[in-house]
Amino acid sequence: MPQLLNLSRAARLVGETRVALQKKIKDGALSSFDGLVAAEDLLRLYPDIQFEDNTAFERVAQIKDRAFGKRVFERSLPDKEVLAARLTGLGKELAESRATLKRYKAIVDGLEKQIKVWDNGGAEIGAAAAALRMWMHQELAAGDAQAGSANLTIRDSFLRVMAAHVTIQPSGHEFFVEGADTLLEAALRGGLALNYGCSNGNCGQCKARVVSGQIMKVRPHDYVISEAEKAAGYALMCSNTAVTDVVIEAGEAQLASDIPLQHITAHVKSIEPMGDQMLLLHLQTPRNNRLRFLAGQNVMLQLGHSISAEFPVASCPCDDRNLQFHIRNTPGNHFADYVATQLKSGEMVAVEGPKGGFVLNEDSSRPLIFIAFGASFAPVKSLIEHAMALDTAESMQLYWVVSHEANLYFSNWLRAMADALDNFQYTPLVAGSDLETAAGRQKYLIDGLLQQIVDQHPALSDFDVYVAGSESLLDAAKKWLLAHGLPDTQLTMGMVR
Ligand code: FES
Repeated sequence: MPQLLNLSRAARLVGETRVALQKKIKDGALSSFDGLVAAEDLLRLYPDIQFEDNTAFERVAQIKDRAFGKRVFERSLPDKEVLAARLTGLGKELAESRATLKRYKAIVDGLEKQIKVWDNGGAEIGAAAAALRMWMHQELAAGDAQAGSANLTIRDSFLRVMAAHVTIQPSGHEFFVEGADTLLEAALRGGLALNYGCSNGNCGQCKARVVSGQIMKVRPHDYVISEAEKAAGYALMCSNTAVTDVVIEAGEAQLASDIPLQHITAHVKSIEPMGDQMLLLHLQTPRNNRLRFLAGQNVMLQLGHSISAEFPVASCPCDDRNLQFHIRNTPGNHFADYVATQLKSGEMVAVEGPKGGFVLNEDSSRPLIFIAFGASFAPVKSLIEHAMALDTAESMQLYWVVSHEANLYFSNWLRAMADALDNFQYTPLVAGSDLETAAGRQKYLIDGLLQQIVDQHPALSDFDVYVAGSESLLDAAKKWLLAHGLPDTQLTMGMVR
């Protein structure tokens, strides 16, 4: 019977992304049975995998670490009790396998003896015995030659000790639980919008049913789960981690309207300049009162009593404690002026949100095109990080359009991502003229940029397109994209003032 692996595990084993394997299945290069792939097929497709070499996987992991901030992807060993439970499970499997092997060896030895007896049973029986012996030795030798398959099993066992795989019902979404993460933390890192509230064991909103597999409580909680609920398999995702691969039945936000409006007070972690005009404002929420939002959404920030403004969150919901904002420091912008000159680390900022529907269509597997105008890059960055965490988009192409080169304040990050990830391309475009004027829009936006996109992607209807910018730029872009074959339902626009 072939050894079957789910796609997420298979991708980890060969150091690929899930989406790259999905493409190979789509192209017919790799067979799949009910979403599973055979270890033998995987080895045929990747004959040169070095099982001790994690370079490819680590390279992508490192670039993601750098991109999302080390605090998000701090890799550490699982909790020691979880590690002990996983090793005990593995030890049990090993003991059972040994016992089975011993049994088979005894059967093979017995068969050898029996064949020897048949050797003396006349010409016909002797020939049949010789043929049987030869077949048996060939099969045993073939088993010895499958070293690659054995290595795959060893590596798979190692990965199982380090990370447990989780499947959510009914959506079928999947994620891995690594390090000392709870199920909720791991799901958020995997880009999933599981239902939750306090993240701290108080509200019960993250309650979910464990359908199969073993979980373990790693954080205390005050919320009381009744005995009947416990018996039915219910547990808090913010207090438990996965010991083995598990299947859970849990609610997930599908739409922006599924996330409630929240009022949170966060403190200023840092304020840093980015280029000449931009400020990076980093807020951190309390551990037990985080902001639940979808990538691409906005929040209202209030400084003191009288200064407030709405901004897109530039960071990813996979790190719901650390919220980043890109603030344009232009003359006459009171909010930016206050942030630049008066706001200090440790001070409190009121956050109200999330708001807005500039979010990813997660039901679609079409390749993605992002077009960001100027400082509207912030929500697009959040969408890109989220799409990377989900690992479902076949490809992502970002066009970042600015008036002047100095405004490409995040280019190094984007170039590093494009170098590290095969499915992400970045094209910076410098207009050299003011895109907010009608003449500038016509000259550069319509005649230059949009034509360039269509030249590169003639079948626009194959893509989902996300555009963020000012109202006038969005209007111009929308008219042109729809006139060139992009269906209305595949265009999502986010207005940033
Ligand atoms: S999120 Fe509140 S108890 Fe888990």
